[in-house]
Amino acid sequence: MNQRGVTLWFTGLSGAGKTTISSAVAAELRSRQCKLEVLDGDIVRQNLTKGLGFSKEDRDENIRRIGFVSHLLTRNGVIVIVSAISPYREIREEVRGRIGDFVEVYVNAPLEVCEARDVKGLYKKARAGEIKQFTGIDDPYEPPLTPEIECRTDRETLEDSKAKVLKYLETSGYLT
Ligand code: PPS
Ligand code: MG
Repeated sequence: MNQRGVTLWFTGLSGAGKTTISSAVAAELRSRQCKLEVLDGDIVRQNLTKGLGFSKEDRDENIRRIGFVSHLLTRNGVIVIVSAISPYREIREEVRGRIGDFVEVYVNAPLEVCEARDVKGLYKKARAGEIKQFTGIDDPYEPPLTPEIECRTDRETLEDSKAKVLKYLETSGYLT
């Protein structure tokens, strides 16, 4: 499998399906013997960005650090798969500008759907005031205006979303 370095940046609300789609894409790329790395907000926050919280400053710092590592890997030919809420448009655009080969994947499901799923029980806690600054509840999410890819996870299947991402990589010359 021939590949070119690229960062696939999955952004969206908690529970929208970032980790699910990105894991499925990663599994497919691994089966095609691609060189790839996965940076998931939940994991990165246990090491690279340990200690950071959810204020705008800390989220931006989290994204900047993830972006920095993604850039190093991307320029060395790796396919980097990031999943992070990354709620602020400006910092996403800053990272895009640095990396260049950057594909924004908007994992989009309405807040009501994410909240109804409540996979981790975090929405319930946020509604009860036990978690503050929770994205979509009492903290902003700025959706991408022109994402390269949009996955509507309330209307399409995981297979649909995965296929969309892979097709984009193929038609854009990142995978040949
Ligand atoms: S960010 O905004 O990009 O820096 O966030 P990220 O690094 O992706 O971390 C999001 C995960 O942290 C958990 N969590 C919260 N999310 C949003 N707001 C608040 N206040 C919060 N507190 C904890 C949650 O598990 C997120 O994971 P996902 O996979 O998005 O559900
Ligand atoms: Mg996740």
